[in-house]
Amino acid sequence: MTQFVFEHQGQEYPVSGENGESVMITAARHRVPGIDADCGGGCSCATCHVYLPQSLEVPQASDIELDMLDFAEQLTDESRLSCQVIVTPALEGTRIVIPG
Ligand code: FES
Repeated sequence: MTQFVFEHQGQEYPVSGENGESVMITAARHRVPGIDADCGGGCSCATCHVYLPQSLEVPQASDIELDMLDFAEQLTDESRLSCQVIVTPALEGTRIVIPG
């Protein structure tokens, strides 16, 4: 398990993510608000948009994820789709901000 924190509208939501599951699924299991995940993790809705620190050692976004991110609002260099980011120990202690 990997411990990290979501932040949404100034509130913190500490979570325990199972390594190998997506960050989106971790948020859903903990009922973290702000991640709608309308497509259920299929990389086809962009409603699971989060900000992930660029310093993290996680795989880069795929071309499909980058294309879908174009539909997200409030895009930054830290933007990722949380259904495409897999929980690994690299996320330990990370703060993941949910826009909106
Ligand atoms: S849940 Fe739809 S793109 Fe991530």
